Amino acid sequence: MKLLKSLAGSQVIGFGHYQPANQMTNHDIAKMVDTTDKWIQSRTGIVTRHIAEQTETVADMAAAAGAHALTDASVDINLVDLIIVATTTAADRTPNTAGRVAQALGALSPAIMDINTACSGFCHALAIADSAIRTGSATVALIIASEKLSAVTDWTDRGTCILTADGAGAVIATASDTPRISSVSWGSDNRMTDTVRIQAPGNRFEQDGQTVFRWAISDAAKHANRTIEQAGYTLDDIDVLAVHQANLRIIEPLAKRLGLEHKIVLTDVSDSGNTSAASIPLGLSKWWHNGKIPADALTLLFGFGGGFAYAGQLIRTPARTPHHSNQ
Ligand code: UT7
Repeated sequence: MKLLKSLAGSQVIGFGHYQPANQMTNHDIAKMVDTTDKWIQSRTGIVTRHIAEQTETVADMAAAAGAHALTDASVDINLVDLIIVATTTAADRTPNTAGRVAQALGALSPAIMDINTACSGFCHALAIADSAIRTGSATVALIIASEKLSAVTDWTDRGTCILTADGAGAVIATASDTPRISSVSWGSDNRMTDTVRIQAPGNRFEQDGQTVFRWAISDAAKHANRTIEQAGYTLDDIDVLAVHQANLRIIEPLAKRLGLEHKIVLTDVSDSGNTSAASIPLGLSKWWHNGKIPADALTLLFGFGGGFAYAGQLIRTPARTPHHSNQ
């Protein structure tokens, strides 16, 4: 067997996102369950979220985010030879969501795969794409995370229906002479396997909120630190912190614990709710396109949740070329 081809690295060259038009505010939720805007904001930081139409699928949202990323990167769909979709809410077992995206966007014959590691799905998917590019198995990868949590939400449970939302985020990755996506740091915690659940037969989203909350405040910082160390950087080098958008009361203390509270801290959860795997690329893309995230910014991604799986890596945001003007 010949040695594996090994390229220097890979890079993110474009961001895309999609959110359904329909917004649901905390006041709307207070009409359905016994809660208040004040309680939701003080415990989660969430103000509003987007909810898909009944007919709008995970694949529809994924394709829309993917199309946006292709436009942002000025990449023709014919060049894409790998599509990975991270999702935990796809209704169908097969064809997978990536296949539906390939069909919707008219891709030629890309490798197509879905991965399910819940809220850490995007970081896992990006890691697989990075490896595929570096070993020569892919040249242009479309990495998407898309979720329709509204379809698995118990709209009578005030403990969970205040959190969940729908949306999708995407990036395009290609080869790079210097690595602009670090190797992934990933793992799982089997003490926490059953803390976040969407289980048969009911397939309703349930979680032990307090347990997840405690893990996120304590263990997440340890693993995020390991991600930075493994990539050969220090906390001082980080420009942007983009962790899973579960709850502002997790994101802010985590940023503080890492000593990154004065850097750019992604807090899209306020406007988007918790969109599981989609939350990191969705928020990053929104902030990239509205100019809140600069070019060439060393960005720490860290996802955690159902499984109980976690994963993180560093990326450098692309240069801002004319087609990267704010959209
Ligand atoms: O993405 C997957 C990973 N998941 C997460 O990261 C979620 C992490 N956890 C959390 O974000 C928080 O645990 C929640 C926001 C889900 C809940 O906040 P909490 O501070 O942990 O509340 P709790 O469940 O301990 O409930 C405290 C009280 C209870 O009342 P009593 O028993 O003290 O009288 C609840 O019944 O708040 C009550 N409560 C509410 N009250 C008004 C629970 N939900 C609501 C509500 N409105 N929506």
